[in-house]
Amino acid sequence: MSHNTARKLDSKNAVLYLPDGQSIELPVFTGSENEGAVDISRLRSQTGHITMDPGYGNTGSCQSEITFLDGEKGILRYRGIPIEQLADKASFVEVAYLIVYGKLPNQTELDAFTDNLNHHALLHEDMKNFFSSFSGQAHPMAILSAMVASLSGYYDAASTAERSGDVDTNAARLISKIRTLAAFSYKKSIGQPFVYPDDSLSYCANFLQMMFAVPARDYEPDPVVVDALNLLLILHADHEQNCSTATVRTVASSHANLYASVAAGILALWGPLHGGANQKVIEMLENIRADGGNIKKFVDMAKDKDSGFRIMGFGHRVYKNFDPRATVIRKACDKVLDKLGIEDPVLDLAKQLEEVALSDDYFIERKLYPNVDFYSGIIYRAIGIPVNMFTVMFALGRLPGWIGQWKELMDDPTHRITRPRQIYQGQTAVDYVAIEDRV
Ligand code: CMC
Repeated sequence: MSHNTARKLDSKNAVLYLPDGQSIELPVFTGSENEGAVDISRLRSQTGHITMDPGYGNTGSCQSEITFLDGEKGILRYRGIPIEQLADKASFVEVAYLIVYGKLPNQTELDAFTDNLNHHALLHEDMKNFFSSFSGQAHPMAILSAMVASLSGYYDAASTAERSGDVDTNAARLISKIRTLAAFSYKKSIGQPFVYPDDSLSYCANFLQMMFAVPARDYEPDPVVVDALNLLLILHADHEQNCSTATVRTVASSHANLYASVAAGILALWGPLHGGANQKVIEMLENIRADGGNIKKFVDMAKDKDSGFRIMGFGHRVYKNFDPRATVIRKACDKVLDKLGIEDPVLDLAKQLEEVALSDDYFIERKLYPNVDFYSGIIYRAIGIPVNMFTVMFALGRLPGWIGQWKELMDDPTHRITRPRQIYQGQTAVDYVAIEDRV
């Protein structure tokens, strides 16, 4: 693939005029979906100026062939395939392959990939001891990130800079072992024995068995639960340059190995403005319920900037129409709960909250819609995942994206270490003052 050289340059350049009289012509180019970009890479060397874009809302950090999303139209595609089609037809393992390798696998490729995942499902036995070292209160995201970083101490780390380690093997190891790590951390937290992976099960069924089976009785993963998990993992599999993926790329740009880069991504995901929102949504809905279900009170609080409260699971940096993942999950919520015979009052509250917020000028003007995290927790809860594991589930889903983006960056011969600039606003030069002379 040639994304790094495939720049469709516009015939006309942009021209930037600076107050000091300088001007510079800047090349303009478009992506395959006609998004335009102004290339400012020579701006500082030619004019001494940099651009300011806190939060990088207007900054393209790379060219990528993995995911396209159009926030205005509510479009999300992995490698060109609409998310709705993948959600309806694919398995998570197929989607992981698609994202990492750029195409849907044929049967032979899928079988080989599945065998590879099975082959790598076990953890090094010594790693089991790590789980005992965490306090009982440790958040599963703290455990997961530490364990993923620790994998580099056990397996040949895939740093492409030195070309040490086989990237494909390490990718399969990680996609497979993250399931085992997540399930073991849960078992440890509830004091149950670890359940080892079982090659005869599908990716999702295998995870559910490691989570919920106990030696005392048989466990058969419910197909409804397996399908629901498969759907949620697919919907989370990649989302172009979000905070955690940008973190993975930033860490990878220093030629850190795959495990180290992904561990950093897991930590970025943990924050409540990003993946941690799925846990916060359920906690918020439970608070609203405990408070008597007064939705208007919470909507008013979210509109009051002094309250510091936001409706979790609402709003998105890129989606300004609707989040197509939320649309799929909302529909799935009703279906899954219905099939499992579960009535969750929090689902009704979520729907009421959505209705009130979407008809309120504050939310309309700011184009704030439910995002992927708004309804996902309700399904996770219905299939037995504890609330503090919700963000771990997001990490399981997002892993193929992190790996695909890590690989894309490493395969790009033109990539450079990520190193933004700043505008210094601090004290200008002053002399050192001896301690006895300081006020
Ligand atoms: N509730 C109330 N007001 C909000 C919310 C919200 N959830 N989200 C944004 N706003 C307001 C914000 O106060 C600001 O108002 P004003 O223009 O008057 O200052 C305006 O909307 C724009 O918000 P912003 O913070 O500048 O937008 P952003 O693009 O920097 O942040 C966001 C995006 C997702 C961090 C933010 O919408 C948010 O905090 N949402 C709640 C947390 C959440 O659900 N996160 C999950 C995101 S989707 C999945 C993922 O990435 O993990």
